[in-house]
Amino acid sequence: MYFGSMTEILPADMNNTIRAAELLRSGALVAFGTETVYGLGGDATNPEAVAAIFAAKGRPRFNPLICHYPAAGAAFEDVLANDLARQLAASFWPGPLSIILPRRASSRIAELTGAGLPTLAVRVPDHRDALMLLAATARPVAAPSANRTGQVSPTSAAHVLHELNGAIAAVLDSGPCAVGVESTVVDASSGVPVLLRPGGVTVEAIEAVCGPVGRPTAKAGPRNTIISPGQLASHYAPSLPVRCDAISADAHELLLAFGPPPSGESPVYQLSETANLTEAASRLFEGLRWLDQEGARLGLRRIAAMPVPLAGLGLAIDDRLRRASAPRPP
Ligand code: TXA
Ligand code: MG
Repeated sequence: MYFGSMTEILPADMNNTIRAAELLRSGALVAFGTETVYGLGGDATNPEAVAAIFAAKGRPRFNPLICHYPAAGAAFEDVLANDLARQLAASFWPGPLSIILPRRASSRIAELTGAGLPTLAVRVPDHRDALMLLAATARPVAAPSANRTGQVSPTSAAHVLHELNGAIAAVLDSGPCAVGVESTVVDASSGVPVLLRPGGVTVEAIEAVCGPVGRPTAKAGPRNTIISPGQLASHYAPSLPVRCDAISADAHELLLAFGPPPSGESPVYQLSETANLTEAASRLFEGLRWLDQEGARLGLRRIAAMPVPLAGLGLAIDDRLRRASAPRPP
């Protein structure tokens, strides 16, 4: 497919994966599919490449990036693992979990990747093509979600191109993402797990392995630093405003349904007819994008989102919906 500008679309076969790795090693930006969402990859050791990621996303420089690796051994060369981190990695990697740990003094990761923090987020994705790309690149790859800051994360190559066509060298197209919400972010640096972002690995699963998971304390970090992703209240937002906990949609709204929808005339995007949270997570971002388009076409003004249970993947879905409904910066 040709979209009329410079971003190459590379179906994720062996040759294209090697080509994508060469692009990354040369300092170019390449988006790639993972099990969660598409990442906007750049060589994490190359300050210019990392600066280009922030520029392409329009991301504030105080918000640090996750480094991606083909295996735990490589990840733990850049951070200091403790028993908790080793246990998390053994249980959930490869998989949708990002672990925050103190950065090693010997790490070659660019300062900007970690936004100057003493810690780094590391992750090994559970995705064949992504693991092949990371192994072929043989460098840590910094990759935020491949969307413009504040927008909905991409779960297909088409979503990536919608916002970043022409702004990146290539997208390695591996089809739709299976999990559909971003990784769970756990701060393991103190030796006790603290949940910074609910995501693809459930809190219940983490607690079954390493006991109670804490929540971040409300104390603010130094100015212009970030201690928790939750500091950015408005996030993952479609163009239309979102109303949470909707029982039904009013005349100006479209409905994001979970389980049997109420009867009515409003356009409906069904996350999961059978109220299955795994299915709902995988359809969430596609659904928000579809409702945005339909709303623009039909002149509707808001998305009404039905509630999901606050357990399992429901925690991550609810988190994304709350952020989408938060007041937006002017
Ligand atoms: O599933 C995912 O995690 C995807 C795929 C591409 O791997 N990536 C992703 O990246 O969602 P991003 O940049 O959109 O979200 C990373 C989150 C941010 O909220 C950031 O604040 C947090 O992780 N983070 C990164 N490093 C951190 C650190 N050292 N301390 C606290 N939070 C950190
Ligand atoms: Mg993101």
